[in-house]
Amino acid sequence: MAETMKGLHRSHRCTEVSNANIGETVTVMGWVQKSRNKGGIIFVDLRDRSGILQIIFEENDIGVEGFEKAEKLRSEFVIAVVGKVEKRSGAVNENLATGDIEIRATELRILSEAETPPFPIEEDSKTKEDLRLKYRYLDLRRPDLQKNLIMRSKVATLTRQFLADEGFLEIETPMLTKSTPEGARDYLVPSRVHPGNFYALPQSPQLFKQLLMCSGYDRYFQIVKCFRDEDLRADRQPEFTQIDMELSFVDIDDVIDVNERLLQKLFKETIGVDVQLPIQRMTYAEAMDRFGSDKPDIRFGMELKNVSEVIENCGFSVFTSALEKGGSVRGINAEGQGEMPRKKIDALVEFAKGFGAKGLAYLAVNSDGTYKSSFAKFMTEEELSNLVTAMSGKPGDLLLFAADEDDVVFDVLGNLRLEIAKNLDLLDKDDYKFLWVTEFPLLEYSKEEGRYTAKHHPFTMPMEEDLSLIDTEPGKVRAKAYDIVLNGTEIGGGSVRIYQNNIQEKMFEVLGFSKEDAYDRFGFLLNAFKYGVPPHAGLAYGLDRLVMLMAKEDSIRDVIAFPKVKDASCLMTDAPNMVDLKQLDELGIRVADKTE
Ligand code: AMO
Ligand code: AMP
Repeated sequence: MAETMKGLHRSHRCTEVSNANIGETVTVMGWVQKSRNKGGIIFVDLRDRSGILQIIFEENDIGVEGFEKAEKLRSEFVIAVVGKVEKRSGAVNENLATGDIEIRATELRILSEAETPPFPIEEDSKTKEDLRLKYRYLDLRRPDLQKNLIMRSKVATLTRQFLADEGFLEIETPMLTKSTPEGARDYLVPSRVHPGNFYALPQSPQLFKQLLMCSGYDRYFQIVKCFRDEDLRADRQPEFTQIDMELSFVDIDDVIDVNERLLQKLFKETIGVDVQLPIQRMTYAEAMDRFGSDKPDIRFGMELKNVSEVIENCGFSVFTSALEKGGSVRGINAEGQGEMPRKKIDALVEFAKGFGAKGLAYLAVNSDGTYKSSFAKFMTEEELSNLVTAMSGKPGDLLLFAADEDDVVFDVLGNLRLEIAKNLDLLDKDDYKFLWVTEFPLLEYSKEEGRYTAKHHPFTMPMEEDLSLIDTEPGKVRAKAYDIVLNGTEIGGGSVRIYQNNIQEKMFEVLGFSKEDAYDRFGFLLNAFKYGVPPHAGLAYGLDRLVMLMAKEDSIRDVIAFPKVKDASCLMTDAPNMVDLKQLDELGIRVADKTE
């Protein structure tokens, strides 16, 4: 029978007890990490969210009954212990915060017994993630996850403090709302009262925060759940959390300034990392050109070089035909990798093909100045030597080239660069390199939809100097949009917003909405703009991604208490699941037979 808490009060968490308490009587509570019976003396490691504390049970101190109870203790039993703090009698455990002390128990209560858990509760678990997620409540007992969630809580608290001090108001926006176009599919919620009608869960509070600016709140923030039905990856969840903000009467530099100081505070006070301000800025065009990515990892070099001019008239038709089709030839120099075995190079070729490359041309510069190459035979000595020079190739280097449309070349080499860096262990998680990427294209052409779509979202302001291009060359218009990138991950993004109705209507026109459509979907915003609207701008961080990088994890699942897996299901609750026919009837919903 489980005992009660009657008359007991926890005095300390496990690691709050220290050698300053020697001689005192304390009351601690938690889970049995492990119990060792050495005959006449029982050692128990007691665990709570703060860490581990050693307890000693001996009949002399706790009595016959108490000792018998202690003999029953198994892993994960929940117990309360009253006892005296002593200097550790055995060897000091350097790995524990409380390694030089122990508690000599005078009272033990078994608050709850436990079955043997399906996997051991320990740091750096070797257990498969699927099993851990099924029993997430046990997984969450593990010190690494506890550390991550404690860190996450700290980041949220510091964010609130900082933004409140800067005059931001925390204001909630609705979860049951109308579709906001952030580019993903919406999660829909059927309305019972309005059969056939649906709410959309917000992909972000974008429109509401802009309306709050129209209403004069001038600095808003929210730590808020967002929902996007998109393909999941290690850094994407269907529901995730944003630190979302919006400011009135500002331009880009104001938003960047307050956010740089926020990041500086968060990194200093959470993980002791100094962020040097100002953070480097790079235009989208430069980021693509040098790194083949709009979220470059600048912890290492291996930058892309455009060699189109050098190979223009060479004999290798793979290269020249890419140019003829309007594409380019670019390369990266994997310095010192000239000896890479053929098998590994082949693996890189396959990797490149996964990003749409038709192939990957390589050239290793041997120490005697000769080449090992997949295409050298198609080129003259002079052409080869010019190419190597253009790539700053030295003996021992491995040069890798992609020839294709620019989009493909950037994607292939941008990813290849990261893959090689990963293989060579060049990515140091303790090295935090921030970067603002600015001047994104306003629009991108969607081949699927046969029209332009907004690169950020339709409320983003074009750069004033590009406004005149919007009818003639919409693809060339740059936006007043910015992303904050950390070690190759986009941790946040935002923009200066359109606040003039004529520009907003023009934007909808370019995106292919009729005026009617636009008013039908976003009339409340367009109308709000008619009644006095301040210039405004904002930004949102992915809190999960931010904490993932701070905690040096590879997946945002490790910083979310109850995450979903790749197919957007929850292995613990089995959501999503079927519902009663009655529930569907009330909603006026009939589920179509898949074969229909
Ligand atoms: P954006 O769509 O860029 O901008 O989102 C902001 C940040 O949210 C994070 N994020 C995600 N994190 C986890 N899982 C996801 N599925 C996911 N999708 C996005 C990213 C991203 O940088 N309303 C605008 C912001 C603004 O303009 O103020 C917005 O939502 O870290
Ligand atoms: P092929 O003549 O098709 O056998 O190609 C010769 C070499 O060029 C091989 O190493 C291919 O992997 C490489 N290659 C083929 N297509 C491309 C391309 N689009 N870009 C870069 N290299 C390519």
